[in-house]
Amino acid sequence: MICQSVSLKNFRNIPAAHVNFCSGINLVMGNNAQGKTNLLESIALMAIGKSFRDAKEAEMIRFGQTQSMVELTYHDTVRQQIASVMMDATKRRVWMQNGNKVPKVADMVGQFRTVIFMPEHLSLIKSGPELRRNFLDIALCQMRPVYMNALQRYNGILKERNRLLKQAGEQGTPLSVLSPMLDVWTEQLAAAAAVLAPYRAEFVEKMNRAAVEVFCEMTDGKEIPRFVYKGVLGYGEENQQNDAKNKIFQKMEESYIREIAAGVTLHGCHRDDIEIYLNDKSARLYASQGQQRSLSLSMKLAEGEISKETHGDYPVFLFDDVLSELDRGRREYLISKISGKQVVMTGCEQIDAISQIKHRNTQEHRVISVEGGAFFEEES
Ligand SMILES: Nc1ncnc2c1ncn2[C@@H]1O[C@H](COP(=O)(O)OP(=O)(O)O)[C@@H](O)[C@H]1O
Ligand SMILES: [Mg+2]
Repeated sequence: MICQSVSLKNFRNIPAAHVNFCSGINLVMGNNAQGKTNLLESIALMAIGKSFRDAKEAEMIRFGQTQSMVELTYHDTVRQQIASVMMDATKRRVWMQNGNKVPKVADMVGQFRTVIFMPEHLSLIKSGPELRRNFLDIALCQMRPVYMNALQRYNGILKERNRLLKQAGEQGTPLSVLSPMLDVWTEQLAAAAAVLAPYRAEFVEKMNRAAVEVFCEMTDGKEIPRFVYKGVLGYGEENQQNDAKNKIFQKMEESYIREIAAGVTLHGCHRDDIEIYLNDKSARLYASQGQQRSLSLSMKLAEGEISKETHGDYPVFLFDDVLSELDRGRREYLISKISGKQVVMTGCEQIDAISQIKHRNTQEHRVISVEGGAFFEEES
């Protein structure tokens, strides 16, 4: 998958821009607060249907303006595609693919695929479970359309169910009265969870090949990582969807009384995690900071490998200020691993990184400089 160009209008601090990319490494260079991350955010928007900074869409519209436009031209395995979105202050969103309106954002997501790598991802091991769940969701939404639909459903039902539990707790509603209504929400939540859980389990299982391979290559190979999906269901339980739904329902039902007391849903995909071990010891508790960073890096590179296995071509890699966060060894490894892939990476003036890339990578590269929301292609 090759991102050929992006055109922006009133997107964040960018009044109007058209940026062309080469099929190899694109270095977006500039001082702080010039628009580097904004450019990556606009590209990622077309892949995941939302801001990777978790910003509301209105925040992406340039201050003082009422409309914002992003148009991305890319090439997939078959043909050139043009995807665009128009966002306005009244929350109207118009998604288009090759000139045709796309009714639901979920139908857009995954047509164009990226791996988004930000400095916070270097904390994937030591951070709380939310970042790891988010990692799974971003990867899987782009790989499987049914996943995104189920996730949207799940989050909507969870909100309603939590509202009901909170209200019941506050009003002291007896379980006998609440049960029939709670059952309805629980059934729907379990059904959505039974779609999500097998995809999450499968993805984590694939990491045991893809990420382990990367990690062992990056380190001396003495320590072997292991990734375990810790979800609503036990290992191997997720195979039969109907069966899975019933099992999840049962677990939730057993917790009704505790849930009313807590006012929230205690079981479900919103509590999932990936447990990560290094030589069978918890990486979060025992791995060194350096090992944790290598593990994080291997998870992100694995995401690209798994996406390629699923769709036949690599996604576009977006690295936001990642190179400057890595020490020389890991940086060199990362640069060697991105050969043959398209990367758009940002950084402040880093002659060192540029020369490493030029030296180690024979593939095409392009340097784009940014100043005050304006982009210029540099002679290289
Ligand atoms: N909606 C917006 N309208 C105008 N400017 C914005 C908007 N959102 C963010 N900005 C500006 O964009 C700049 C940050 O751009 P960013 O791409 O994050 O910088 P960097 O080059 O450091 O990655 C800041 O100066 C910020 O004020
Ligand atoms: Mg930035």
